[in-house]
Amino acid sequence: MIYPSFVSPLTSLRVIVAADPAAAAELAATRILTLLHSKPTAALGVATGSTPSPVYRALSRAQLAEPLDLSRARAFALDEYVGIDARLPQSYRSVIDAEVTEPLGFQRSHVSVPDGSAADLAAAARDYEAAIDATGGVDLQILGIGHNGHIGFNEPGSAHDSVTRVVTLTQETRKANARFFDDNIELVPRQAITQGIGTILKARSIVLLAFGAGKAGAVARALEGPIEEASPASALRKHSDVTILLDEAAASMLS
Ligand code: PGA
Repeated sequence: MIYPSFVSPLTSLRVIVAADPAAAAELAATRILTLLHSKPTAALGVATGSTPSPVYRALSRAQLAEPLDLSRARAFALDEYVGIDARLPQSYRSVIDAEVTEPLGFQRSHVSVPDGSAADLAAAARDYEAAIDATGGVDLQILGIGHNGHIGFNEPGSAHDSVTRVVTLTQETRKANARFFDDNIELVPRQAITQGIGTILKARSIVLLAFGAGKAGAVARALEGPIEEASPASALRKHSDVTILLDEAAASMLS
């Protein structure tokens, strides 16, 4: 069952509690397809991690059933590890190519991921921010949320007006991502290039998904706690077009 959406009394965010992740993913996929139908040149902001995967699978199924020409659409990834070979399966370049570029039929040259192996990382980050702006900005940004409330790799303490930059990952984030590195935290990179919170807030629309009881605390803090740097996702309440798609477990700590 899908509950009617509600507007949080504390914010202008739309919150939708779906029966399960698959139902939430279908809603996100429909939103993306509607955008791409009406604007074939749209720029999509794409996240990696476990949470958005069902959205990309739903889009793939839709592309098989009724293909949409995405040759003019663009995609921008949120982040990339520093110092990882882009050809390794754990690189976000590889993940985005496998989950988005190839199955959905984006042109590879239209899918951008920060260059985490650049000799000058600060310049790579600046160039990435400029590239997003140069194409007219992101129309719809898909987001997950970390257990510590991070969006992209903007860890707690990130300025809400931060731009694309090199960041250091918290131990908690490296531990959470060790599952992609043979459960060995030592293999998880220590730094990343991430879009800033300010970069994310420039997207015209934002859809954040969160599933499972492990995310309930981060979701409640983001939506109902103070808007503060200690809570990166709380910055979303400064934006006028944000939809939060949750399963029941992730919504369980909302008042
Ligand atoms: P997850 O990561 O979807 O793999 O839980 C979310 C995030 O860290 O933003």
